[in-house]
Amino acid sequence: MKGVILAGGLGTRLAPLTRVTNKHLLPIYDKPMIFYPIQCLVNAGIRDILLVTGGASAGDFLSLLRNGRDFGLSRLHYAYQEGEGGIADALRIAEPFADGERICVVLGDNIIERDIRRGVEGFEKQPKGAKIYLKEVPDPERFGVPVLEGKKVVKILEKPKSPPSRFAVIGIYFYDARVFEIIRTLRPSGRGELEITDVNNAYIESGEMTWEVLDGWWTDAGTFESLLRASNLVKERGANKS
Ligand code: G1P
Repeated sequence: MKGVILAGGLGTRLAPLTRVTNKHLLPIYDKPMIFYPIQCLVNAGIRDILLVTGGASAGDFLSLLRNGRDFGLSRLHYAYQEGEGGIADALRIAEPFADGERICVVLGDNIIERDIRRGVEGFEKQPKGAKIYLKEVPDPERFGVPVLEGKKVVKILEKPKSPPSRFAVIGIYFYDARVFEIIRTLRPSGRGELEITDVNNAYIESGEMTWEVLDGWWTDAGTFESLLRASNLVKERGANKS
């Protein structure tokens, strides 16, 4: 399985911190944010990794990460996202890199306490389709939220005003090669973006989506509150622990 980290976007919710740099280069406790999703993939045994970014500070990722030696890698792959078309638009660029293989996609501002090795192994055994992680949160309205019927996810709603459950769909996703066909069928959402939630709903509709609850803490880091929480969690409880 290959890994894809999505680290583009304007980070407008973090302005002015993001006026002259990319959100994923900001510090989370003692490391740049982008270190955490890379470590997450490497800890899960995924060493073939593409980083998708964009904007004026795209070159800084190369200066910072070089060939991935901080993570024991001998090379990293990079791709440039033109414009700000959303998460699924950034993922579209990964098609030649994936080259028909399955991928694990990590949003660059998602940080976790443990490792995802069990999820990777589970998805490798799954005949086809996709897999997501759910995590119970106090503020589901900020995220993609699953509609659950018993143990079945029947739909995901993106940032619903009245959340249908207390779970968030976190930003770590497993997909087979059909993901790129699905992306080609998407239309921009109300906020003008190709939504990863629409990709996931396509897999749910065809009965090819599985899910599990993530162990350990999880946070995003795209708002002032979550950026601070991420630093505090990393400092007090540690991240990417096996
Ligand atoms: C994105 C997704 C959302 C998901 C979240 C996880 O939201 O659209 O479904 O729950 O990442 O971090 P964003 O915060 O990028 O708008």
